Parts: sequence; structure tokens; C-alpha cells
Amino acid sequence: MKTSCCLYPGSFDPVTEGHLDIIRRAAGIFDRVIVGVLHNPDKKGLFPVEKRVEMLRRVCEDLPHVEIIAYGGLLADLTREMQIPVVIRGVRGMADLESETAMARINGQLNPGLETLFLPAASGKEDISASMVRQLAAFGADLSAYVPKKVLPDVLAAFSKSI
Ligand code: PNS
Repeated sequence: MKTSCCLYPGSFDPVTEGHLDIIRRAAGIFDRVIVGVLHNPDKKGLFPVEKRVEMLRRVCEDLPHVEIIAYGGLLADLTREMQIPVVIRGVRGMADLESETAMARINGQLNPGLETLFLPAASGKEDISASMVRQLAAFGADLSAYVPKKVLPDVLAAFSKSI
């Protein structure tokens, strides 16, 4: 089946410049990009899901073919329900590649026919992660290279309360 639609799933806690780069590149390939805020049981959340969705909507407002949703279940079920045949994941290095390959295989077993495509992190963005951003923010470091300008105040505000 040929497709013009993909799902870009993640925790997005918060959205980073690395995520935004993948979203923009996916939007250059697919007619419709659905960014899904999904639950990662291995990660303790900082922002509530509604806030992550709202921040993603703000940073993607200039991308007309990108929509943001939240989903509390399995990625395989979401893609089946919405009939999305392709998942996009960004890969920053070999460690990502290993875990992402396992996840892609499991998702393909749970939803046969679902394909996962990997986009390599752009040069200069391969070390950006939301967990790194959260840690830097907790220590008051400059986040301007890592977090989209439109959500920087939200990230700073989250930590100014907790310090
Ligand atoms: O940004 P992350 O934390 O790397 O994204 C991971 C995410 C949320 C895409 C993954 O944990 C996920 O798909 N969660 C939904 C539940 C699910 O389907 N888990 C099975 C994956 S094999």
C-alpha cells in the first residue's frame, strides 16, 4: 500500500529542536504528519500530556500538514485505528538504532504491515534529548540551542517552580 500519511510518536516531554527537525523533515516527505504524544512507561513525566500537546501545537503552527494528538494506548492500536501505515522515528546513534529496531519489530508484529522508517538526527542535533533538556533546565543552563524558542518560557517556568 502506498501512503502519504505517517505517525511520529514520542513522549515529547518537552518537544526539543531535535523533534522539531524530524517533524519538519517528515512534513517534507509526507502529505500528512500526525505527531502522537504517547505514554512511555519507562519515563517519569514532567509536563502533563495536555501541556505537551499544546506546546507541540505552538511550535508546529506554521506547518499546515502536521497535526498533534494524544493517545494513551499501544502505538500498534493507534496506527490500526487511524489506518496509519508508517511510523517515523528519529535515530541519534547506534544505541537508538538497537532499541528502535526492537520497537519497530514488535510494533510490526502487533500490527502486521505497519512499517517504521528511521530518520537520522541532523548533524548538530544528535545529542539533543528531552531528558538532557530536563536535566540542563534543572540546573539553570542555557537551553536556547535545544528547545524551540516558542516553548522556552514554559520549560523555564516548569523548573523555576521546582527549584
Ligand atoms: O520519546 P520516546 O519516549 O522515545 O517515545 C517512546 C514511545 C512513547 C513512542 C513508546 O514508548 C510507545 O510507543 N509508547 C506507547 C506504548 C507502546 O506501544 N509500547 C510498545 C512499544 S514496543
